[in-house]
Amino acid sequence: MPKNIFVLTGAGVSAESGLGTFRDKRGEGVWAKFDPMKLATPEAFARDPETVLAFYDLRRRNLLGAEPNAAHFALARLEAALGQRGGSLALVTQNIDDLHERAGSRRVIHMHGELLKARCNACAAVRPWRDDLTVAHACPECGRAGALRPHVVWFGETPLGLDLIGRALRKADLFAAIGTSGAVYPAAGFVAEARACGVPTCELNLEAADNADLFDEQRLGAASETVPAWVEEVVGR
Ligand code: OAD
Repeated sequence: MPKNIFVLTGAGVSAESGLGTFRDKRGEGVWAKFDPMKLATPEAFARDPETVLAFYDLRRRNLLGAEPNAAHFALARLEAALGQRGGSLALVTQNIDDLHERAGSRRVIHMHGELLKARCNACAAVRPWRDDLTVAHACPECGRAGALRPHVVWFGETPLGLDLIGRALRKADLFAAIGTSGAVYPAAGFVAEARACGVPTCELNLEAADNADLFDEQRLGAASETVPAWVEEVVGR
């Protein structure tokens, strides 16, 4: 059994929990309906904070009504199994939901931030946030109104935890990407880094990702089916 596994997850792992994906081949993803440049950039927030906050309010409400699915639970089992054998799982997610944690994953690197947290643009304090967020809210730390934003990474901003991610990539002896289209960097480049270190790479996805040719193995299907089967195989190896 591989000892240190690196798993990158994307919106596809939460799709069966009812949270939409961003892009698919049918043009039904969130970014086919909404312009990310008007909703997910620091410039958009500076220009029109109400619209940006309302978009994330809707997503936060959806998340609060969603539940983890079999894929999230299987990844929590994988972390526990590796831990018992003296290894570790680096679970890096592009998702801003908390479904991995709610399924029992103990250590999750949220490289694109977390929807259930708010950050103050004035004092940088980050705190849990489950309610709608408005420009009228004052920062509980510094008292400034109008500076609170969702603690998520927008286009043009640097993802979180990249040092930690780099170290985990160099330590891994198996790399898997689950439910991600391979369209957004730097996450889409992790598979190339793993390959450069000689690590076997596996894609689990509904449709082939943009970077599918960089994977040694491909398992197409719904994450709620492919991920538990893959975890059982890996744990049994
Ligand atoms: P995408 O929406 O780009 O890709 C979702 C992937 O999941 C696609 O490859 C789908 O085929 C696959 N998929 C859909 N349903 C699935 C299912 N039931 N089981 C398995 N796979 C399924 O999402 P990401 O790659 O995560 O960033 O997107 C990356 C980033 O782009 C996001 O974090 C977000 C977005 O813009 C920011 O907002 C900064």
